Amino acid sequence: MTENLLANDALDRRGFMGSVGAAVLAAGVVSACDRGDGESGTADAPTSNRRNGPHPPKLTGSADWEDVRAQFDLSEDTIHMSAMLISSHPKPVREAIERHRKGLDRDPVTYLEANNSSGLNAARSAAGNFLGVGSGRIALTDSTTMGVGMVYNGMQLAPEDEILSTEQDYYVTIEAIRQLSKRTGARVRRIVLYERTETLSPDEAVARILAGINPRTRVVALTWVHSSTGYKLPAGAIGDAIEKINSSRPQERRIVFALDGVHGFGVEDVELSDLRCDYLMAGCHKWLFGPRGTGIIVAGEQGYAPLIPSIPSFLESGAFTSWVTDNGDAGPNNAQRMTPGGFQAFEHKWALLDAFEWIQSIGKSRVAARTYELAGQLKEGLRSIDAVTVQTPASSRESAGIVAFDIEGLSPNAAVARLRERKIIASVAPYAIPHVRLTPSIRNTPAEIDEVLRVIRQMA
Ligand SMILES: Cc1ncc(COP(=O)(O)O)c(C=O)c1O
Repeated sequence: MTENLLANDALDRRGFMGSVGAAVLAAGVVSACDRGDGESGTADAPTSNRRNGPHPPKLTGSADWEDVRAQFDLSEDTIHMSAMLISSHPKPVREAIERHRKGLDRDPVTYLEANNSSGLNAARSAAGNFLGVGSGRIALTDSTTMGVGMVYNGMQLAPEDEILSTEQDYYVTIEAIRQLSKRTGARVRRIVLYERTETLSPDEAVARILAGINPRTRVVALTWVHSSTGYKLPAGAIGDAIEKINSSRPQERRIVFALDGVHGFGVEDVELSDLRCDYLMAGCHKWLFGPRGTGIIVAGEQGYAPLIPSIPSFLESGAFTSWVTDNGDAGPNNAQRMTPGGFQAFEHKWALLDAFEWIQSIGKSRVAARTYELAGQLKEGLRSIDAVTVQTPASSRESAGIVAFDIEGLSPNAAVARLRERKIIASVAPYAIPHVRLTPSIRNTPAEIDEVLRVIRQMA
């Protein structure tokens, strides 16, 4: 129905208004329940979450780790230490995707009409619940990369402004701020955050970021957990320091603090208020074990009004109304407008609710503790091998689940290839200084860590 409506663009839209407006809403592409939500960036979206009401309850974790592992369909002959790349879906997520896939395959249009905005808004509510914010702060994306791209692409800067980032940030942030600079003329300044992670205290990290800020700085673009070294930024302390500077600036010169949060999200037991950032972008298809092709943007108290959306939304009825009435005013930006429209792999988007419910049923604090425990076991074992240099800090204050290291005499690519021959999935990313990365997560066991260490000892 929407395609027909979009294809009718050549016709007089104003003449069409009555029937078209009603048809769009009736089609469920945007439902009446979405109207007016989240304009302030803080409101909860009304949802028709089919099982739990507006917010899934926080469940108390009691599952044992063998039960958790049994939820995954992972091949048994391989040790999968790759949670930082792409998720294997746990059973409740697989089942939800399958249920929605069947519904869509049986009756694509009416199933979509019945589930579209309610399914998306239920996922937004669950994400908000997970991070301690209302769903009016949550935009849904396909990935971290899409969220990072949309946030930086949405910023309005002037040629005299500066964007601050570091040499340790990932390609996705660096490329997005390069595009932002190209579009607006604002200059990118990149500082060296550390030479080696073990020499960087949280205070020193904050001091280095502060030293890179000057009166021209309008954006601080950082990554919560570095995918090269596994170093975890003291994001909250950096956010506090930026807020202090902002308190003496006029609103229009405020520094916006944006964070690629993907390697902390789903591991760390924190809420948005702990991170003190204006925008957090994360994929849900890594450490959260959510459906592949899902991600979120989370806004701080200022909401989305300062950003311009890049992709037309199907979730915001105001955007459709302004089109059909041709009034040219889509209203202030909000989380719905920051959620890209278009027909999508809806079964994955809707099953995001089940992923949040699943991880909440284990318990955020237990997930964090288990990930630290496994990563700690791995780091301690690696440190005891002479030919291995561990790049990731030992403390969970400065690290999460990524464990990065080098083996003397073996390039990271060669080491990863040798590990894969032994059925251990490690990875290496195309940073200027690459390292081998193993990423233990709640789907791994202490026995698997021991086996990995045994193999690396032989290799080294
Ligand atoms: C820091 C960082 N950000 C973003 C990405 C890409 O995430 P996504 O697949 O969700 O776009 C990666 C790696 O996959 C990464 O290491």
